[in-house]
Amino acid sequence: MEANTLIDPSAPVGVFDSGVGGLSVLRHIRQALPREDILYVADSAHAPYGSKTPQQIQARALALAEFLAGQGAKALVIACNTATAAAAPLLRERYGMPIVGMEPAVKPAVAATRSGVVGVLATSGTLQSARFAALLENYGRGVRVVTQAAHGLVESVERGEVDTPQTRALLWQYLEPLLQEGADTLVLGCTHYPFLRRLIQSLVGEGMTLIDTGAAVARQLHRRLEAAGLLRQDTHAGVEHFWTSGDAATVQRIIRRLWEDEKIEVHRL
Ligand code: DGL
Repeated sequence: MEANTLIDPSAPVGVFDSGVGGLSVLRHIRQALPREDILYVADSAHAPYGSKTPQQIQARALALAEFLAGQGAKALVIACNTATAAAAPLLRERYGMPIVGMEPAVKPAVAATRSGVVGVLATSGTLQSARFAALLENYGRGVRVVTQAAHGLVESVERGEVDTPQTRALLWQYLEPLLQEGADTLVLGCTHYPFLRRLIQSLVGEGMTLIDTGAAVARQLHRRLEAAGLLRQDTHAGVEHFWTSGDAATVQRIIRRLWEDEKIEVHRL
């Protein structure tokens, strides 16, 4: 175990995802922690993670964590359910800094459902993981949890296609069976899916509650930084820096659109 002796509240927070999905988490982090500088890596050359083996995802997570640690990150956020399921324990073994991961919001969904049927939309990597099985075992009792691996949705978001007829048709394939099963609560179990929230809600109707974990992750990061004495408390206005392992110009175009800032620069990893 490599102890992290860095106690510098002005150091940045490192965030990574297989691509641009983690921006949905970054949005909440920015709101909850306006003073923190954030380093964001989109591992676009290796997206999607959902169809990769746990070993392949672990190798990528280690490479990205190493990069972010090298840039001076004081904490890491794994803004990806699939990478958390595959690699969070490994990263925690390797680094002493606070590491915040994420998992599908089964617990709040079970508390929210009235019909007793909860739908979970996630990648196959997440749904097949031991971590997800444990989540169902611990919190899924007493309700029916219907899971749906949503192949192709990550790629749609990566292309910036968050409101096209093709994405709508693909989504309907996954959502219709959940509606037929009687689900009234839907867990968005992949960080790419909040970018499809409007489209999803228009397909399933206002009666379906959609739940994601971005805000909870931001709160957890706040708690972890505070507990470690790493919370930035000066008057600095936090800035974001972006990298990608993919084509910088392409990813920059998508990030500018999803982050709603035309001035963002994305660098090649
Ligand atoms: N955004 C990711 C997640 O939360 C990963 C998607 C993927 O690359 O398959 O699961």
